[in-house]
Amino acid sequence: MNDRKFINIETERIILRKFRESDAEAFLKYRTKPDVVIYQGERWESYKLEQAREFVKEQMNFEPDIPDTWFQIAIELKSTGDLIGDCAIHTLPQDTNQVEIGYTLDPLYQNKGFGKEAVKCLLGYIFNVLNKHRVIAITDVRNKNSIKLLENIGMRREGHFRKNAWYRGEYTDEYLFALLKEEVIGWDFLGGI
Ligand SMILES: CC(C)(COP(=O)(O)OP(=O)(O)OC[C@H]1O[C@@H](n2cnc3c(N)ncnc32)[C@H](O)[C@@H]1OP(=O)(O)O)[C@@H](O)C(=O)NCCC(=O)NCCS
Repeated sequence: MNDRKFINIETERIILRKFRESDAEAFLKYRTKPDVVIYQGERWESYKLEQAREFVKEQMNFEPDIPDTWFQIAIELKSTGDLIGDCAIHTLPQDTNQVEIGYTLDPLYQNKGFGKEAVKCLLGYIFNVLNKHRVIAITDVRNKNSIKLLENIGMRREGHFRKNAWYRGEYTDEYLFALLKEEVIGWDFLGGI
């Protein structure tokens, strides 16, 4: 574990930054949209403003690299200052040298390459600043956009978990993608996509 504080990271079009109190409403708005909740867990369907405010407050006091916690990072559009999504780092409890990532974009900003730009930047932070050994991502096998994003970025599909997650009244299949630090030597994490 390290004691570094998260510092903003800028790419060409976005800024990855810590959440602010003023993000709660925008966060709630895109996180509860049907296209977003579909593979994200049923609890988001009934998520309320009060919960969004609590979530944001909690994240404001968080730092990355705490075992078995999700550190959530806001994705801000540079040109407008709008919150357009979020991404996250889950420091795995069984081995803190390995993390799981998550990512969500407001549908208004999907299919414009922002997902890839944000996740590439996140990977750069994870490998170069946090110095992690391995990153994983787990996604529903029906989540085509998420799978395409991970493949485009160069993550490897290593696992197919059959009927692994209890979700909306049934067991569903999931893919596990992974990437090792030794595989990203020479990558330009902040460059064009
Ligand atoms: C998964 C998710 C983050 C993908 O976000 P995204 O921004 O649409 O993904 P990408 O960055 O890959 O961009 C998608 C497309 O935009 C295209 N694009 C359009 N304009 C572009 C531009 N100016 N620059 C770059 N790419 C552009 C890309 O080419 C890409 O299409 P392709 O894959 O056919 O080549 C998004 O669909 C999402 O938030 N889904 C709901 C939440 C979710 O399910 N999260 C994952 C849980 S595991």
